[in-house]
Amino acid sequence: MMSMTCHNLDFGARVLDLVAVGSSSNASIERHSVKSHGKTFTSKVYGARRMVCSRQNISRTRVFSRNTSQALFDGVGERTAPVLDLKKEAKIPISLAKLFEVVADDLQTLNQNLQSIVGAENPVLMSTAEQIFGAGGKRMRPALVFLVSRATAELAGLNDLTTEHRCLAVIIEMIHTASLIHDDVLDESDTRRGKETVHQLYGTRVAILAGDFMFAQSSWYLANLENLEVIKLISQVIKDFASGEIKQASSLFDCDVELEEYLLKSYYKTASLIAASTKGAAIFSGADRSVTEQMYEFGKNLGLSFQVVDDILDFTQSAEQLGKPAGSDLAKGNLTAPVIFALEEEPKLREIIESEFCETGSLDEAIELVKQCGGIERAQELAKEKADLAIKNLQCLPQSNFRFALQDMVVFNLERID
Ligand code: IPE
Ligand code: IPE
Ligand code: MG
Ligand code: MG
Repeated sequence: MMSMTCHNLDFGARVLDLVAVGSSSNASIERHSVKSHGKTFTSKVYGARRMVCSRQNISRTRVFSRNTSQALFDGVGERTAPVLDLKKEAKIPISLAKLFEVVADDLQTLNQNLQSIVGAENPVLMSTAEQIFGAGGKRMRPALVFLVSRATAELAGLNDLTTEHRCLAVIIEMIHTASLIHDDVLDESDTRRGKETVHQLYGTRVAILAGDFMFAQSSWYLANLENLEVIKLISQVIKDFASGEIKQASSLFDCDVELEEYLLKSYYKTASLIAASTKGAAIFSGADRSVTEQMYEFGKNLGLSFQVVDDILDFTQSAEQLGKPAGSDLAKGNLTAPVIFALEEEPKLREIIESEFCETGSLDEAIELVKQCGGIERAQELAKEKADLAIKNLQCLPQSNFRFALQDMVVFNLERID
């Protein structure tokens, strides 16, 4: 029996015995390299998408036990092609609320807990936590934790989420939020989630301390889960954030930056946490190593696709739509996928970027060149390629509403740039 001392967290959930955690005795964590990537991309043919979450009588939130593993693969409604054809299908935009419907109760509990646990002992930290958690956010990472937890719990015959699953979701959102607070300091962003950033309101020193506090607090909760494999997995993520931010800061305005380096930086900054979230959830379900590894790959590929989409949106959306400053990546010299692709086509772009936009109007000219040279379209192909891999990684899971919601999340991300 694992003892849980997740202080201040009252999830009202029963602590369950965890079934044997995969091969937890072999606690070494493989580092998952981002594979090198060719410069041309083939558009994948996606299969049909179906709005599983909008179905009537959807089975809500509770995982049910079945006697045989085969039973898990039956009866939840057949989904033939697990991948999506965004072009061919008549599109029904996926709403996030629909997507998360199957874990809505889990997310509600999470939201109640989030604000109460951060910095309760210090009024300044309390205010910063209120500011950033209260501003909203999609809660995509905890939703992923809940969806993978429930999808894999079925495999292991668990009939509900464990306290460990629920703690993991809180820890992951805290880590994500801490990384955003620090990222906004480094990017000198004034708005986040449509509201003023922590450093804008309270100053840089408070923002750094608040971010540090959240990282430390999450480490404390993590340690209390007493699962060495998960502790190692998530600790590495916190290290990866710093590696990613340093990598980004040290290659500003560098027009020789390669796609592989960009993907590695994106892995450090974004995909590593999402991969750890999905793998951690599967570990706490007691899933086999083959499944936990596939869940890691799923999170990594979704995370990479997500970051590429975020980088495209920085070119195509307004600050109002984004809830954070638009067009600032290129202005700050952060050369993302659309720029890297456009640089292959247009030598003039290099000149403008290397001059660090010293001439009036040169930033607008560079943005226009990126768009004209097909930088956005090629980045879109890259995002789709990673999304396709993510969908394939889900094939190890039994068909369930939770797996379908995971598939739809991959599509939802791509539809942001449609
Ligand atoms: C923002 O992540 C940071 C990136 C990885 C691009 P989200 O877009 O998930 O941020 P919130 O939590 O919804 O605000
Ligand atoms: C991802 O990078 C953010 C973190 C992982 C902290 P970005 O710098 O692109 O995120 P946004 O655009 O500021 O949300
Ligand atoms: Mg940023
Ligand atoms: Mg961004």
